[in-house]
Amino acid sequence: MEKTINGEVLNIPEHVAVIMDGNGRWAKKRLMPRTYGHSVGAKAIEAACENCDEIGIKYLTVYAFSTENWKRSVEEVSTIMNIFRKYLVDSIERSNRNNMRVRIIGKREGLPEDIVKKIEDLEKATAGNTGLQFTVAINYGGRDELVRAAKNIAKDYKDGIITEADITEDLMSRYLDTREITDPDLLIRTSGELRTSNFLPWQIAYSEFYFTDCMWPDFDMNELVKAVRYYTGRDRRYGGVK
Ligand code: FPP
Repeated sequence: MEKTINGEVLNIPEHVAVIMDGNGRWAKKRLMPRTYGHSVGAKAIEAACENCDEIGIKYLTVYAFSTENWKRSVEEVSTIMNIFRKYLVDSIERSNRNNMRVRIIGKREGLPEDIVKKIEDLEKATAGNTGLQFTVAINYGGRDELVRAAKNIAKDYKDGIITEADITEDLMSRYLDTREITDPDLLIRTSGELRTSNFLPWQIAYSEFYFTDCMWPDFDMNELVKAVRYYTGRDRRYGGVK
């Protein structure tokens, strides 16, 4: 979709996925604990939702906690879990005000029980909203998602629900956590790292990648427009020839 922003014609991606990196370094630079970086990072998520909605992005998916992030210190993990607790509760009212639907992807197993309950409540409360489709990856790992999908396919095959011939790329997509959302058009990673870290490996097969040195807490509308400007300049061929 084309949109004119400040006199500039931009091609707006339908789905933007973000690896929000750099909270710890952002805080360290300010002589603050890493956990402070996560609190400010959480605020940046709220702003990113509003900014994406404003410029016409339909889907935003963010990587908030990976299956590997449990290796961090007990203090850091527990602060991040507390940020989730607050976010999951507070965002019911805010999401409904903004017509935003929130989904959480990732492995529920291993998450504290009260968080799983809060996730279910938030998803249910916003299920009818048709504005920004916001997805948060919590306890998410792309390989874990593929293994869970493979197990469910095996189970449905064994139960006679599907046949071998039914197993196609389309069916595979329908067994992933992201079954209800489109594949990302643009993947953004902040903080200067150049890797995808097990985020949506199946879904980003044809995504454009944008890497920026900006740390996540500083990722504002200006940075979002820069990423969309980069995307506008890309020529997507999906393996074909134009
Ligand atoms: C990456 O920075 C950030 C994370 C692994 C955690 C992101 C989580 C939040 C912002 C919490 C809020 C989430 C929601 C949905 C409200 P890093 O710690 O890896 O930074 P570093 O690379 O500088 O160490």
